[in-house]
Amino acid sequence: MKAWLLHDFGLDNLALGETPTPVPKAGELLVKIGAVSLNFRDKAIVEGFYEPHLVPKPLIPVSDASGTVVAVGDGVSRYKLGDRVSSHLYSRWIDGEPGPDEPAYCFGMPLPGGLAEYMIIHEDSAVRTPDKMSDEEASTLPIAALTAWYSLVDYGQIQPGQTVLVQGTGGVSIFAVQLATALGAKVIVTSSSDANLEAVKKLGAVAGVNYRTFPRWEEEVLKLTDGKGVDLLLDVAGGEGLNQSILATKAAGKIAQIGFLTGQVTTLGLMPLIFRQTTIRGIAVAPRSSFDRMNAFLNEHQISPVIEQAYAFEDAQLAFQHLARGAFGKVVIKVS
Ligand SMILES: NC(=O)c1ccc[n+]([C@@H]2O[C@H](COP(=O)([O-])OP(=O)(O)OC[C@H]3O[C@@H](n4cnc5c(N)ncnc54)[C@H](OP(=O)(O)O)[C@@H]3O)[C@@H](O)[C@H]2O)c1
Repeated sequence: MKAWLLHDFGLDNLALGETPTPVPKAGELLVKIGAVSLNFRDKAIVEGFYEPHLVPKPLIPVSDASGTVVAVGDGVSRYKLGDRVSSHLYSRWIDGEPGPDEPAYCFGMPLPGGLAEYMIIHEDSAVRTPDKMSDEEASTLPIAALTAWYSLVDYGQIQPGQTVLVQGTGGVSIFAVQLATALGAKVIVTSSSDANLEAVKKLGAVAGVNYRTFPRWEEEVLKLTDGKGVDLLLDVAGGEGLNQSILATKAAGKIAQIGFLTGQVTTLGLMPLIFRQTTIRGIAVAPRSSFDRMNAFLNEHQISPVIEQAYAFEDAQLAFQHLARGAFGKVVIKVS
């Protein structure tokens, strides 16, 4: 099959080539990929700053894929040929608490990803693609939408009327705006772009703060929340900004620590954390059961993924470059 193969770190070392088409073992599906979507994780893996010691080479990158079942291994019962399915990043985390070694079973690293004509997905981890969604749309769900959903619902237990702060206007954050709005929350967004702050209001956000114009953006958030801070903050920026996130969150509020866009290390001021009694929870996507519940919600509320651009399979490198520049929502690659 045709596949993009990462031979060494760096986008220049991602090359279109040929590799044997995998054969499904017992319980596995062979999925003909229709589309994949890119996440910051994929870029970080390609560039060598996401657990580089765990990256096999060559690697078929990109975790999030949607397509059609074209062959099944022995004993498969959840799906049949022709069914449309999507990958689920933490492929063995089906329900409940995560096990200690979930990252060892993630697609796109260390398991082969979806930037190829075919991909193996175990039937237990495959998720049925919503009927109303194309493969391009469905490919945006496994990490970006599900991380936002899990942070808002399973962890945040967000209630109508509560306030949520969402950082930036990338993949996770745009889904967070759409989902939190549909859940009845008031969403405040930070962005480096005034145009993007206007655009998120059309998706339901009630207010925006430009974090370039207002480097002390947490003070603006306090002004917007009567000095209290938000109930739940989805932190995708990471780094030293976590200290600002604590100040922007209400006393006894919650932070979902999702990302590390500005750094994987932080110097945490303990006194604001202690005085505000903040709960900070690391988020690593979600179990598949949460994905199933999210898809029902997306269907019920007719939420469509925001895709800024879909690239051809041959133009995968352009898609990675687009992600690096920043996209409003998702960047997708059509595979077939
Ligand atoms: N733990 C998990 O389960 C999980 C799941 C998904 C993603 N993540 C992580 O979450 C982060 C975001 O992922 P993504 O795929 O959504 O990325 P993305 O689509 O590449 O989004 C990047 C956007 O983040 C915004 N941004 C950058 N620096 C910022 C800052 N200092 N403050 C506020 N916003 C900032 C920018 O928005 P503007 O252009 O509007 O400024 C930028 O366009 C990454 O670190 C990713 O690895 C983690």
